[in-house]
Amino acid sequence: MAKAIRDGAGKFSYHYPFHATIVTCHGKGKDNAMAVAWHAPISLNPPLYGVSISPRRFTLEQILEANAFAVNFMPLKYAELVAATGGSKGSDVDKFEKFNMEKEESVKINAPILKKAYAAYECELYDHATLGDHEWCVGKIVTVHYDKMAFTDKDLLDLTKVDPALYISGENYVTTLASSVRHLERNEYGNK
Ligand SMILES: Cc1cc2nc3c(=O)[nH]c(=O)nc-3n(C[C@H](O)[C@H](O)[C@H](O)COP(=O)(O)O)c2cc1C
Repeated sequence: MAKAIRDGAGKFSYHYPFHATIVTCHGKGKDNAMAVAWHAPISLNPPLYGVSISPRRFTLEQILEANAFAVNFMPLKYAELVAATGGSKGSDVDKFEKFNMEKEESVKINAPILKKAYAAYECELYDHATLGDHEWCVGKIVTVHYDKMAFTDKDLLDLTKVDPALYISGENYVTTLASSVRHLERNEYGNK
């Protein structure tokens, strides 16, 4: 395929889709939640997960104060909550009250877990670094919350039961098709 060439990163949207998550935390005396599309698994042992948070976010002040955060994985049917928490400032409003977001108790950290998430990681802040114009916050996953109905007995996301909310930039959300799953054994393909 002949590809167009652009200087730099262009609109920095060529890597999408990415899961539209909501990071929750408790700091500065209140619970808060913000949409986060820049995030990644980093290490299995210890289990580390990174989220990239701009220093302009109230959430970052809270995470650095509490040394903890949670990553909530949302289904497409609740993508409005992603847009809502991404379009409002926790310094100005109580997003839980304003958007009627139901909370569940976390087990090991002080941060709310979203009832509407189909899975969530409780993370203790393991490290953080300023990288460019964002803070890369690395969390050690200490507890996982998950809806048993949303996963198969092999812990694979069951796409017949849940549609993950994926973000493709420009305020657009999509999901996956259960019929698009291709099971490809790496050993079989790697040894062809
Ligand atoms: C889909 C979506 C993804 C976002 N991803 C990020 C992100 O990865 N990092 C970030 O710093 N801001 C991101 N934002 C912006 C924040 O969610 C937004 O600025 C929010 O209002 C911050 O809330 P706070 O002021 O309560 O911390 C995203 C917004 C949306 C709508």
